[in-house]
Amino acid sequence: MASGRGSNFDAIDQAIQQKDLSAEILSVICDRPAAPVLEKARLRGVPAHLLPFPEGYRSRHEARLAHEEKVLEVLENLQPRFLVLAGYMRILTSNLIERFRSELRDYSRIVNIHPSILPAFPGVGGYAQAFRYGAKVAGVTVHLVEKEVDAGPICAQEVFSIVECETEQEVERKGLEVERRIYPQTLKWVLSEQFTPVPREGGRVYVRKN
Ligand code: GRF
Repeated sequence: MASGRGSNFDAIDQAIQQKDLSAEILSVICDRPAAPVLEKARLRGVPAHLLPFPEGYRSRHEARLAHEEKVLEVLENLQPRFLVLAGYMRILTSNLIERFRSELRDYSRIVNIHPSILPAFPGVGGYAQAFRYGAKVAGVTVHLVEKEVDAGPICAQEVFSIVECETEQEVERKGLEVERRIYPQTLKWVLSEQFTPVPREGGRVYVRKN
């Protein structure tokens, strides 16, 4: 699922084509008609579903539920085992998250990549947030999705120095290079579910790669 540029989609599909990642992308689900990821999917011969976010609802929540109904219709047909979020700029409701819950081991089969070392800098513009904050490092987190936004169990993280960066764009450029590498690498063991969720004191979960 993606909303924008699609560099993560590209990296994942490339890893699959190069037989570096054993997976199949059933479809790209996109909510923005102008998103470059749609053209990227076309060029790579990957099917795509454009499901624009609906207008004219009284509340954001109602619009979100109506939109997810459409998403769920598509998912009902495709029956994917995992949802991989790659720059998808929508908050998922628990209705959707629960449909991807692994009942036995209690985690969602939904993965996301976030441009910061969570729990620092959640929300949009993680790289810009780190730069503006004056941080010395920025980073990338791959995590499983739960209802609380940008807070699910962490699968992988990588930091990089931004001491030499003079603009937000430079931080982003460095970050995207890390993302291109870390997302396919992490999906290798996450999609094959070769990990164990280990509860930690305080209620959080540590994801141990088997
Ligand atoms: C990435 O920075 C990712 O971490 C964040 O959204 C951006 C998506 O970029 N979730 P792209 O569309 O994959 O190029």
